[in-house]
Amino acid sequence: MIQMYHVHMSYGPDNPALVDITLRVDKAEFVFITGPSGAGKTSLLRLLLLAERCESGQILVFGQNVARIKESQVPYIRRRIGVVFQDFKLLPTRTVQENVGVGLEVLGKPRRETAKKSMEALRLVGLEHKANSYPLRLSGGEQQRVAIARAIANDPPILLADEPTGNLDPVLSREIYDLLTEVNARGASVVVATHDIGWVGRTQKRVIRVERGRVVSGGIREN
Ligand SMILES: Nc1ncnc2c1ncn2[C@@H]1O[C@H](COP(=O)(O)OP(=O)(O)O)[C@@H](O)[C@H]1O
Ligand SMILES: [Mg+2]
Repeated sequence: MIQMYHVHMSYGPDNPALVDITLRVDKAEFVFITGPSGAGKTSLLRLLLLAERCESGQILVFGQNVARIKESQVPYIRRRIGVVFQDFKLLPTRTVQENVGVGLEVLGKPRRETAKKSMEALRLVGLEHKANSYPLRLSGGEQQRVAIARAIANDPPILLADEPTGNLDPVLSREIYDLLTEVNARGASVVVATHDIGWVGRTQKRVIRVERGRVVSGGIREN
């Protein structure tokens, strides 16, 4: 589903962010990317999202080499990848349901389909009853669940989450983690970047460890 081979990326000369990254995430796999702050986790996810480009190497997403893809093709790849951020990034002036439907709306889906799919996604995260609320009236944990509903509303085969529990206490973090596990169980490949490794080890999930821009362990699944 995701493969990177010898990927290098930098923010300008003498500022390498990722060095010789080789990794693989299979279909319907759940993988953590861990490492200290500044290790390159966000840069790695941004490469997969095509928000950044690499200098060299190959990046295969859905079997396509996206490292060299034309800019005009980017939206077609991106719409099949859901993303969740640490700071939720919800629109404060739109209702919860509108926030969840925003991606579908951009794709030009009929209004009825957008409404139906966003309610389904809200049901999955347990927030159907908040559909008409505004995001800022919700707790942090609820806001992140709305962001997850938005990310999965279009049923993407890949879900990327960058420090999704960074603003949440341990109990809410656990809820978010359970929800991401459920998304994974429904068939999506889920990649979660987090510097907080305290609880990651206990989950039995594969961990790709990144330090100073390099994969130091776990890049390829061993079985
Ligand atoms: N937009 C940017 N411009 C310049 N340097 C950046 C930028 N974003 C990240 N970096 C640098 O790239 C390295 C990796 O950062 P990042 O991918 O954000 O790491 P992490 O998510 O693991 O904390 C760091 O040294 C960081 O300072
Ligand atoms: Mg980061």
